[in-house]
Amino acid sequence: MRASEPIQLQSGVTLKNRLVFAPISTMEDAPDGKVTKDELSFFAQRTGDVGAIVIASAYVDQEGKSYGNNLSVSHDHYIESLKELPRVIQQNDTKIFLQLYHGGAMAEGQVEHFKPVCVSQTSSRLTEGKEYRELTDSEIEQIILAYKEATLRAMKAGFDGVEIHAANSYLPNQFLMPTWNLREDKWGGPLENRLRFLEVLIDQIKEVVAMNQVKPFALGVRISLEDAFLGTQEERDASFKEALGVLKMLDDKGLDYLHITSSNALEKKEINGQKIELLRLLKRFAEKTPLVGCGNLLQSEEVEEALEFSDLVSACRPFVFTPDWAKKIQQGELIELPSTGIDWQLRQKLNIPRNLWKGIESSPDWYLYKF
Ligand SMILES: Cc1cc2nc3c(=O)[nH]c(=O)nc-3n(C[C@H](O)[C@H](O)[C@H](O)COP(=O)(O)O)c2cc1C
Repeated sequence: MRASEPIQLQSGVTLKNRLVFAPISTMEDAPDGKVTKDELSFFAQRTGDVGAIVIASAYVDQEGKSYGNNLSVSHDHYIESLKELPRVIQQNDTKIFLQLYHGGAMAEGQVEHFKPVCVSQTSSRLTEGKEYRELTDSEIEQIILAYKEATLRAMKAGFDGVEIHAANSYLPNQFLMPTWNLREDKWGGPLENRLRFLEVLIDQIKEVVAMNQVKPFALGVRISLEDAFLGTQEERDASFKEALGVLKMLDDKGLDYLHITSSNALEKKEINGQKIELLRLLKRFAEKTPLVGCGNLLQSEEVEEALEFSDLVSACRPFVFTPDWAKKIQQGELIELPSTGIDWQLRQKLNIPRNLWKGIESSPDWYLYKF
């Protein structure tokens, strides 16, 4: 069974199997950005069998905080609190990575009269009536520095790696996308310029890692290619071509992995009149870098099929109701989800944090794979 095979990443970090717990924002961290006991209990119940857990979106800068109660890695005084996560999760050789983000125009800020930063003031993606501040060159450098400092904090806290969140319309994604980025300087315009922010970010984080590492430390990037499949056929073709260009560039950066976010990893996409599995196609453009396939992979046959085209697979919702999902997958067991509804006793038994539970209650069918 491929799922059980270990894999050594470029940095030297070894995952004991091919299964990853994809980032899940439980919205349960304290309002000041610290880890809570409830979140720790949630992960304690789900670690030990899985190769790695990616801890969801931690903001690298106060100005980049985008929603609810999520983790902060924006200051040295968070290091002590962050240490709790590796302490709980690194059981039985499960690795832990921290996902880093800056919300850019999506940020909510925590001060009165907060104006989020944006890549370009003229973008139609910005919310009408809301005020933004277009990033200057030196502010861009400052944000890159914030990512570097955040990486160093993750290293000091004992994590095994960081993942740059370059999907879901966060700042690196805003730089990449032509609809967000209408700048005319070195950060905007042709794809090679729009890629610059992510490229510099990767190079500088690698430098910080090389200078400070005491053990192997991984760097991954999470990207989405699904925007490529929206809009008219013509728009889709153009944007998909770009997405492949992004992938090709990232493939040359010596990353530990590329984590693809998609709603269905096994879905077939039509390219040049031919239907092909998305992951299979992406592998042709990212030959050197391990790909992590993600999306709607619940049962072991689906995981094994995804592993024919990708090097690792990640899952998010499956871990919510099946804490030992990684063990069951490796044993080829059928994953059975609650069929008779969900109640607070189940929540208690599964240590599901309150805010995550609220989300489950508002769309139970999505978590129970009934659609
Ligand atoms: C409650 C919830 C929170 C999530 N938070 C994040 C996040 O912070 N960062 C991220 O990259 N993906 C996030 N995701 C997306 C998942 O990592 C994953 O890509 C998605 O759920 C599809 O995988 P699945 O079908 O295995 O659930 C979240 C998903 C859920 C359900």
